Amino acid sequence: MHSARESGWWRSAVIYQVYLRSFADGNGDGTGDIVGLRSRLAYIRSLGVDGVWINPWYVSPLNDGGYDVADYRNIDPLFGTLEDARALFAEAHAIGLRVLIDIVPNHTSSEHEWFQAALASPKGSSDRARYHFVEGRGADGEDPPNNWSSVFGGPAWTSVGDGQWYLHLFDSTQPDLNWTNPEVREEFDSVLRFWLDLGADGIRVDVAHGLAKEPRYADMPGEGDSVLGGWGRDGHPHWDREDVHEIVRGWRSVLDEYEGTVMVAEAWVENWERLARYLRPGEFHQVFDFQFLETDWAAKSMRDAIEVSLEGAASVDALPTWVLSNHDVVRHPTRYGLETGTDPRAWLLDGDRAALDAEAGHRRARAAFVMMSALPGSMYLYQGEELGLPEAHDLDASVLDDPVFERSGRTLKGRDGCRVPFPWSAFGDSMGFGDNGAWLPQPESYRDLAADVQDGVEGSSLELYRRVLALRKQVLADGAGFEWHDLGVDTLGFVRDGAVLCAVNFSDQPLPLPGGDVLVSSDPLDGGLLPQDTAAWIAIG
Ligand code: GLC
Repeated sequence: MHSARESGWWRSAVIYQVYLRSFADGNGDGTGDIVGLRSRLAYIRSLGVDGVWINPWYVSPLNDGGYDVADYRNIDPLFGTLEDARALFAEAHAIGLRVLIDIVPNHTSSEHEWFQAALASPKGSSDRARYHFVEGRGADGEDPPNNWSSVFGGPAWTSVGDGQWYLHLFDSTQPDLNWTNPEVREEFDSVLRFWLDLGADGIRVDVAHGLAKEPRYADMPGEGDSVLGGWGRDGHPHWDREDVHEIVRGWRSVLDEYEGTVMVAEAWVENWERLARYLRPGEFHQVFDFQFLETDWAAKSMRDAIEVSLEGAASVDALPTWVLSNHDVVRHPTRYGLETGTDPRAWLLDGDRAALDAEAGHRRARAAFVMMSALPGSMYLYQGEELGLPEAHDLDASVLDDPVFERSGRTLKGRDGCRVPFPWSAFGDSMGFGDNGAWLPQPESYRDLAADVQDGVEGSSLELYRRVLALRKQVLADGAGFEWHDLGVDTLGFVRDGAVLCAVNFSDQPLPLPGGDVLVSSDPLDGGLLPQDTAAWIAIG
């Protein structure tokens, strides 16, 4: 049995998140695919990461970018075939990369055969019992069973016309599964084995905090706006409920049959006290630290966030898993370029564009990466962050694909701006993404940031990532030693394993650095001084 206490490759691993649809298009249909990804594995390896996590690639109508799965045991033809997946696992393994896949257990697509059977079957049938079909309120069930709302906006219930409604915490084409039903559990155990047998090294679990629902479907007291925010409270009727943990332990026992496999949780919960519960022995190996991701660029907030994470993880003898961006949030160079207190998701729609300091955001993003890489634990990078890609914030409403836009009544633009296809080259069709356009338009500004523009160029963001990840392996290894080191107001300093000092300057004054060799800095030093919004590692051992 593995436990969070034991060492394992994942403890300090760096995983690169591949948003398959937007990474590399191998067949010229405008959508990224497995063949495209295979052709770019060497690039991923060149970054110095340990593995990849691939967003869902299963058969899907793609109403929510593939998080609406119609068949968990097959690849969507848009992305390739099972043969391609098998080849990908083999090729990745051959060059020392592990592959994590995304498991979506909270809901299926409405096109899944189980849901189609449920619609065709009467109330009370075993087909309906795999989902949450509940009688509506009112004389003829004309009102939804309760006041829960969808994360994407609007009610969380859709009527099927016979007095019953089905629950969907996300889009109406994503019906929630009923995890109290043993058939659901058996099915997912079998799905896990299917992919682990095929060669997957682990799973990222989607909406891990949402699987258990309040059994009487009671109203949410004071339920407010829950569009991608405010998730997770103790005693919440469908987030972070105690029953989730038993389900998680079931998956972990399946993973433990496969040596060296790992599972990481997407769990948006109230605080680290709650989050640590997912990291207990026999549960997840890693949980994304979204509190860190959401922290403003300020010394005190960052220090507090780091401290709370290290303490929270230590309370269960584990380490944090750091992340700055993913396919659900505004890319961090853009977030850090906005004034403190701005809600980046709201800003995307109609926020003041002049309020964005792109240059500062870019510098801070580099510094944040240098800082994060020095912290104990594992981390996830999101494709394109190594190029310093900002959010594509000016996508026209006509090209938006994320269901958040319509379901929020067009009050939120959604997540397409962080999902724009990858710029491989400054020239050529769709910036080298594929031979025939890209499913979302790429901003012209991405040309200058393309991978081939930065490759081998000293001082580029791409080369900074390579240098830092290589150094991290050399000088930080797997240690967990961490001590704060005071460098003055509006700065942050900490020492790792007594050997490396990481200094970050949040102030507007250049910071004199303590003696020692400067191993790396996020931007050039100014005659021995650490400029504003810059981070450096110094060998002090
Ligand atoms: C997770 C995914 C997100 C998806 C949602 C519903 O939050 O990361 O992209 O929309 O779950 O599956």
